[in-house]
Amino acid sequence: MSLHRIIYLSTAADNLSIDELKQLWIKAKSNNEKINVTGILLYIDGDFLQIFEGEKEIVQNLFELIKIDKRHKSIITVYNNTIDKLVFPDWSMAFSSTDYKEIQKLQGFENITRKNMSKIDDKTAIIFINTFVESHRNEVVYT
Ligand SMILES: Cc1cc2nc3c(=O)[nH]c(=O)nc-3n(C[C@H](O)[C@H](O)[C@H](O)COP(=O)(O)O)c2cc1C
Repeated sequence: MSLHRIIYLSTAADNLSIDELKQLWIKAKSNNEKINVTGILLYIDGDFLQIFEGEKEIVQNLFELIKIDKRHKSIITVYNNTIDKLVFPDWSMAFSSTDYKEIQKLQGFENITRKNMSKIDDKTAIIFINTFVESHRNEVVYT
């Protein structure tokens, strides 16, 4: 079995309501539980940053579905490759909603904007998520 990780950024569709966002996450989480995919979905001022990991074929097939989902657009793949170890093994799809103003308070990410977020690399994305989770433990929904 080969492990795989995908990290991407996207922008939510203009008409995506908070309710629909919640439904999306609930469904994603329950699907992922069945197929042993783990990760985190961050909603930042209408942008998504998602990391998900698991068995290669399953993860790649899921990404094909996610890419054609009309609830978001402008998908930028940050990472799509084999990995040795899962970085988020415990969460079927943790979720948190935040904004750029809030993440600019994180050490090392003071200059982050919507524009330069699109140039983030995989290592920085993981550091960013870990830094965010560390400082916003109570605002992240894990289960
Ligand atoms: C930003 C975003 C993230 C998503 N993440 C996941 C996910 O982690 N797992 C998942 O199964 N579906 C996810 N989806 C939904 C898929 O695109 C697709 O609707 C879903 O897998 C179909 O599931 P169903 O065939 O059981 O209805 C996501 C969609 C969007 C827009």
